[in-house]
Parts: sequence; C-alpha cells; structure tokens
Amino acid sequence: MGFSEGLAAQLSLPQGMVGLLLGGAMDIANRVPTRLALDLLAPQDGERILDAGCGTGAALVGLLRRADVRAVGIDPSVTMLEAATRRLRGRALLIPGTVERAALAPASFDGALLLNVLYFTDWQGRMAAAIYRALRPGGRLVAYVTHRQTMSGWRFAQAGKHRLFDRQELASALVAGGFVPERIWVQEVPVTRSIRGLLVRAVR
Ligand SMILES: C[S@@+](CC[C@H](N)C(=O)[O-])C[C@H]1O[C@@H](n2cnc3c(N)ncnc32)[C@H](O)[C@@H]1O
Repeated sequence: MGFSEGLAAQLSLPQGMVGLLLGGAMDIANRVPTRLALDLLAPQDGERILDAGCGTGAALVGLLRRADVRAVGIDPSVTMLEAATRRLRGRALLIPGTVERAALAPASFDGALLLNVLYFTDWQGRMAAAIYRALRPGGRLVAYVTHRQTMSGWRFAQAGKHRLFDRQELASALVAGGFVPERIWVQEVPVTRSIRGLLVRAVR
C-alpha cells in the first residue's frame, strides 16, 4: 500500500500508534470546522447530542463546554474511542461501531454532528439515514466536509476511500438519507486561505 492509500485508510479508520498520531493532527487541523459546526448547532442545556465519528472526542469536549448536554459519541475505531475515553473521563457515553449499525433508539436525539465523516458514506445514504432516524422531529444535523475543489488537490483523497462533495452533492447525500431539500442549508466556509469547507445544517 502506498503512502496516499495508507493515509486514506487511516483517516477512515485510525488504528494503532499511527492512528493516534493522526487523531492528534486531526484535532489541530479540524479546530476551525469544529468551532463553526458547534456555533451552527447551538446546543442547549438538557439536549441529547450525538457526535457520529467522534474521533478523539475533541468536538464532544467543545460541546460540553458550551452547554450542559447529554453527549454521545460513536466511532468504529478502537484507537479513537480509547483516546476519547481518556479525554472525556465519563462525561460522554461512547459507543463502539459505525453509526449505520449502532442500535440508536429512534427519535432519541435533539442534535447530531457529522464532522469529516460523510466522506465514508455509501451511495445509498445509509449514514444520513441513521442520523435521520435517530433525530427527533425538529432535531438538527450539522455536518462538515472539506469542499471537493480543495480535496481534489490532496493525493490521499484520490485513493478511492473518500467520497467528495460540492454544495449540491452534500445536499443530495442528506436527501438520500431522508432529509427534505427545503430543510437543508449548505454554506461554503473558508477554513484557511487555501482550504474551503462546506457546512450543512439539516432539520428533521
Ligand atoms: C477523518 S476522522 C474525523 C474525526 C473527527 N470527527 C474530526 O472531525 O476530527 C473520521 C472518523 O470517522 C470514523 N468513522 C468512519 N466511518 C464511520 C462510520 N460509518 N460511522 C461512524 N464513524 C465513522 C473514523 O473511525 C474516524 O475516527
């Protein structure tokens, strides 16, 4: 496996020492998108919020700083969940596995985050469908992906592991999961001078 393929595989499922180092790097690289996503989610005291693909738990920590929420993280990477467990120290419920396969009670969340995770969804929209089911009516999803124009310049993103998005493709991925177009708002956000991102808010 070449470097780009290895990096793409680690980003989709961080493992071992390399995965742990990558998790730390993602925490730094994803600081701005995470802050913007939490602003958009605007969590309120008492809400139950899911972070699907929580990685090392950085967004969960940010979430708990903003409001007294009941926080839940899901991630299939043992390495990431161990890091999140050390970091959260019991302040969030952490569930191993993919969001598609997790036994989440229907309509049991007020909000959900999907940060840098939709790259790994299938074309049937099963990831968005799992979030849609888990949200209560009126519950909101906030997701972030880096724009395909930026990702196209990154070799690891060409290794076949990442699905890429422009505004329309991102909205379509959510529609495939059950969200209706009228309740999906996508915005482009500058992350750095050379990195453009997409933030989406969708309401069930
Ligand atoms: C690129 S990292 C992003 C981590 C973190 N959300 C962030 O923005 O820094 C992607 C994470 O999603 C997790 N992941 C991949 N597929 C997933 C799935 N189907 N359900 C939940 N998490 C998934 C990976 O294990 C990894 O921790």
